[in-house]
Amino acid sequence: MLNGKQKDIELDPARVPRHVAIIMDGNGRWAKKRMLPRIAGHKQGMDNVRTITRAASDLGVKVLTLYAFSTENWKRPEGEVSYLMSLPVTFFNKFVPELIEQNVKVMIMGDTSMLPASTQKACADAVADTANNTGMVLNFALNYGGRDELVRAAQKLVQRANDGDLQAADVQASDIDAALMTAPLGELADPDLLIRTSGEERISNFLLWQIAYSELVFTDRLWPDFSPDDLKAAFADFAGRDRRFGGIKK
Ligand code: IPE
Ligand code: IPE
Ligand code: MG
Repeated sequence: MLNGKQKDIELDPARVPRHVAIIMDGNGRWAKKRMLPRIAGHKQGMDNVRTITRAASDLGVKVLTLYAFSTENWKRPEGEVSYLMSLPVTFFNKFVPELIEQNVKVMIMGDTSMLPASTQKACADAVADTANNTGMVLNFALNYGGRDELVRAAQKLVQRANDGDLQAADVQASDIDAALMTAPLGELADPDLLIRTSGEERISNFLLWQIAYSELVFTDRLWPDFSPDDLKAAFADFAGRDRRFGGIKK
């Protein structure tokens, strides 16, 4: 668990994680602490996406995957859900020019067909407007669930089998990779580092297959308060980890 103040952190560029995934949690508690409605926390959280996107891109991250709305978040009160659904519209309207200036490419994963039409359009436009960018991929998980993703992957594989294109005994891990929503990320599909803010230490149905060997960092910081220095501190922690992938230390 990372905590406290971190200043003047020196990072070795060779040890910056290439794919960083963040479970952006704690917006509601941030608002509650200030006697504000929960949606005020979501608004502040959205502004922080802008800050952390810029910081990650500047630090040399290749893919930043942000958990924005889970397949379970529909359980929340209707007013909160509809506010959350409006945030991509606000975010992309405000920040797509900056993302273009930073050469950031937007990607969306999750079942977007269930989102309001205006949200779907804002997402599709942001993806199209940044499609030719060659810098960091900013990958939003929207109406995303790891189990939903695996169910859909299973459906694709069964379909391939039905089509006579695949035999059960021939199924490889790479076939599963290819059927997941992260497939467009190619060799960068698996996060090197997974960060969760707000003090909760659980995965909440995020990237179940892809985090098999991710390094995990949990921090008490609430998402709206998570700063570029906190990101650097997580990267410094990551840089000190010995990733063995089941092997032994060299
Ligand atoms: C994360 O903040 C944002 C979403 C899940 C959409 P929360 O809204 O979960 O904030 P807490 O956990 O209630 O503090
Ligand atoms: C995870 O946070 C989902 C997102 C950050 C989008 P939740 O707040 O929904 O997770 P739980 O309910 O605490 O596990
Ligand atoms: Mg939460």
